[in-house]
Amino acid sequence: MKIPPAKTAVATPNIALIKYWGRRDSNLNLPFNSSLSMTLDYSLNTVTTVSFSDKIASHRMTIDGKVAPLDQRDEKLLKTGIVIDEMLRLGGYGKDMKVVIVSKNSFPGGAGIASSASGGAALVYALNESLDLELEPRELSILARKISGSACRSMFGGLVMWKRGRRKDGLDSYAEMIFDSSHWTDLVDVVAIVSEEKKSISSSEGHDITSSTSPLFKVRPKLAEHSISAAIDFVKRRDFQGLGEIVMRDSNNMHAAMMDSWPPIMYLRDPSREIIDGIEELNSDEGRIVAAYTFDAGPNPHILTQKSHLGKVETLLNKSRSVKKLLKSVTGRGPKITEEVLQL
Ligand code: DP6
Repeated sequence: MKIPPAKTAVATPNIALIKYWGRRDSNLNLPFNSSLSMTLDYSLNTVTTVSFSDKIASHRMTIDGKVAPLDQRDEKLLKTGIVIDEMLRLGGYGKDMKVVIVSKNSFPGGAGIASSASGGAALVYALNESLDLELEPRELSILARKISGSACRSMFGGLVMWKRGRRKDGLDSYAEMIFDSSHWTDLVDVVAIVSEEKKSISSSEGHDITSSTSPLFKVRPKLAEHSISAAIDFVKRRDFQGLGEIVMRDSNNMHAAMMDSWPPIMYLRDPSREIIDGIEELNSDEGRIVAAYTFDAGPNPHILTQKSHLGKVETLLNKSRSVKKLLKSVTGRGPKITEEVLQL
């Protein structure tokens, strides 16, 4: 059988402006609500090379030089193996064909930037190219979703919406670009690294704990759909005031439901709260919202702002003793194929 050519893809993380939390189907990563995100630029990236062999017994993966076994020890890695097999089948390859994956992140592991989103997107993108599948972006997004929900949004650049869908098979639960990366070039995301500790509860576990135990979570699905329509309208008009408020409120709402879970899930730490206070103070001094915080499943804030206010935001973050590093990004363009080949 012909061995497919090795290919390398680059994909970037995304920051959720209206969050995905809670899954109506945890095998397929089908969410209770739609979500909206900003894809980050190439300064934060995952590069993934896939190559092939029919002489080895199983797929092999390394992430940042460490072996990542595609088995049940880790939910996302197990799902990665399932998606690889599905794509090989689509390409007409049998069980003998195995994939060797070498993946490298430009940002520190545990930085609160989901490497599973950029990693999942880069892998699916590279496999589509190697196996010559010519799948539509929507189909690629569905495959990436099955690895990690938020990965389906990293399949596109710009401002991206993941539609929740209603079908049991998930065929209507995929991401779509709403505005391309040139729509709002002034928008900046600053990630402040306050902790690089691994979180005690993974997002995969957290989704299910919250949706099955939190009474507050019940209001989230409907609220999130409303917030998405409003947020899209603010982005359309490049209205930072409106967008900033809704982004902060959605992050607070998700973290409230997390804390309302049993056992409670608390991803925010003292430095996170210190930065929330700092942003509140900055906005109140300015008399309007010039910066907005949002947190995924971790303590590191993402601060959205506009280029004209970036200086003030950086000064504020650099003042905090807990901030170890700032990572800045504008809206990114989405995955691409590169010539670089990563070796084991
Ligand atoms: C808080 O995409 O990591 O970042 O589907 O289980 O892989 P799985 O979850 P994951 O969850 C991310 C949740 C979030 C919010 C978001 O990105 O929308």
